[in-house]
Amino acid sequence: MTPRFQAVKGTRDFFPPETDRWTAAEAVCREVFGSFGFGEVRTPVLEHTELFARSVGETTDLVHKEMYTFPDRRGRSLTMRPENTAGVARAILEKGIATGPMPLRLYYIGAQFRYERPQAGRYREFRQIGAELFGVPGPAGEAEVLRMLFAFLRALGFVNLSVTLNSVGTAETRAAFSDALRCHLTPFAADFSEEDRRRLAENPLRLFESKDPRVRSRLSDAPRTGDFLDEESRRHHEEVRRLLDAAGIPWQEDSTLVRGLDYYTRTVFEVVSRDLGAQDAILGGGRYDNLVESLGGPALPAVGFAIGEDRLLQVAPFRPPARGLVLVLPQGPEDVAEALAIADEVRGASPGVSVEVDLNSRGFKKGMSRAGMLFEEAAVRGYDRDRMFVALLGADERAAGAVTWKSLSTGSQETFPRSELLQRIGAGRQV
Ligand code: HAM
Repeated sequence: MTPRFQAVKGTRDFFPPETDRWTAAEAVCREVFGSFGFGEVRTPVLEHTELFARSVGETTDLVHKEMYTFPDRRGRSLTMRPENTAGVARAILEKGIATGPMPLRLYYIGAQFRYERPQAGRYREFRQIGAELFGVPGPAGEAEVLRMLFAFLRALGFVNLSVTLNSVGTAETRAAFSDALRCHLTPFAADFSEEDRRRLAENPLRLFESKDPRVRSRLSDAPRTGDFLDEESRRHHEEVRRLLDAAGIPWQEDSTLVRGLDYYTRTVFEVVSRDLGAQDAILGGGRYDNLVESLGGPALPAVGFAIGEDRLLQVAPFRPPARGLVLVLPQGPEDVAEALAIADEVRGASPGVSVEVDLNSRGFKKGMSRAGMLFEEAAVRGYDRDRMFVALLGADERAAGAVTWKSLSTGSQETFPRSELLQRIGAGRQV
């Protein structure tokens, strides 16, 4: 039967055990980021459209054709955030902390919205884990956020990732580079699509996002950002690479990496996982020294990154620690109160264990068959088979003041006085 309502195209629902994996990965993130002194910021999904036009850039694909933008009931143009950096910059200005003590270390975990063509690893509602470090103009800023990023990625079990790096220089570098690109490509523009001709006219850097082979082949011998770097940006970039070496973070240079957002200055970086196919990046970031000022704030250097959480979890080796499971089976309704009390006792004594009572008291047979099914599916459901038990409470147990405890992995069972339950669990012999 086709349900009457379906999730909006490009959006997804999540259920256990997938949600358990997401929550556990986010807990690892909070732990690692917290250990670097980063605190969580939460900004609204809705922002004024102008914020993104000003920061991400009017002529980027993101602003030009991927935003969920609509007038509210009073006709003001609002946008569901396509990324979080602009919102964080707006928020620190509004709170007045952009002029306060520096550095400012913030991270976020949240949904973002882009009207893209949905495909594997690409959604219209997706989630990002991001971090922004404000107030550090030197390469130590890049070193710190990349160290934190790799600490997190390694905690998720990645071993072979490396970061792809480039420097896009200052605003002047970009302008000179854009002009040179335009000069180089204009003679071939007649072959380009209308979209790419628009890019060429408005913002030639964006041509690096074109998939068209006619554009790509012309770009292969085009000028490179590196040819236009000022001395200070060049030194900055060298120092970033040196600090990455010192941190044991593998990197490779890619002079065609310019990133799809206009606010970057100097360092830009991405991490691509081969497992995703199609060269999709699991994360991107860089320095954006002019963004806060362009939003009307002080000159405040900043550097950060955002990980696509959906893509990250598709490829991360990470599995949350398996849980124990105790199924408490009351034989009939008269055993339910005792079953609920036992369940609470077990929960209290055994962290990391799920305790479920058969609330419909459907009898031992049905209860055991569900237990068998859960045991079979233990791996996908995230249970540790050696810590799966059933507690049986029926007429016999009621009469004797006892409980029957059965291990699902060994099949062995024992009936013991109810009063010994905690002692047995506490002694680590069960659960
Ligand atoms: P971004 O490269 O636009 O950068 O996005 C970062 C990551 O979000 C991408 O590498 C990708 O993994 C994920 N992502 C983007 N679009 C989608 C999608 N449609 N579906 C699934 N995942 C997606 C930014 O957003 C910047 N704010 C990063 C940053 C922070 N730069 C400095 N600070």
